[in-house]
Amino acid sequence: MAKVLEVQGVSKRFLGLKALQGVTLHLEEGEILAVIGPNGAGKSTLLNVISGLLRPDAGRVLFLGRDVTPLPPEARTHLGLGRAFQIPTPLPELTVRENLLVGA
Ligand SMILES: Nc1ncnc2c1ncn2[C@@H]1O[C@H](COP(=O)(O)OP(=O)(O)OP(=O)(O)O)[C@@H](O)[C@H]1O
Ligand SMILES: [Mg+2]
Repeated sequence: MAKVLEVQGVSKRFLGLKALQGVTLHLEEGEILAVIGPNGAGKSTLLNVISGLLRPDAGRVLFLGRDVTPLPPEARTHLGLGRAFQIPTPLPELTVRENLLVGA
């Protein structure tokens, strides 16, 4: 299987706080990978590094074998690396029932 996404030894620090340390993972074609952890574990920081909103202090992100670490988010999007943001609000144009169906 072809590797779609590779995260290699990614670290990110916010002043004294180590949000990510040596994160390594890879995703193959057709695979779904869930990242879980408590509040503040670093999940969003990892997604921000993968999508290019944050630059890692160390490590690399490869998409379809290409090192995208220096690229801004829009360049990654053009390569096909997209990101959906968490929207913790109801969709006002939908009914309550439809909102619940979206979540389900
Ligand atoms: N821009 C930032 N500046 C300083 N600290 C930050 C910044 N972004 C995240 N952090 C800190 O980094 C740590 C990881 O945060 P992150 O938002 O990645 O966690 P999370 O796993 O997404 O949490 P949640 O489940 O609450 O969404 C937290 O301690 C957070 O306060
Ligand atoms: Mg988060």
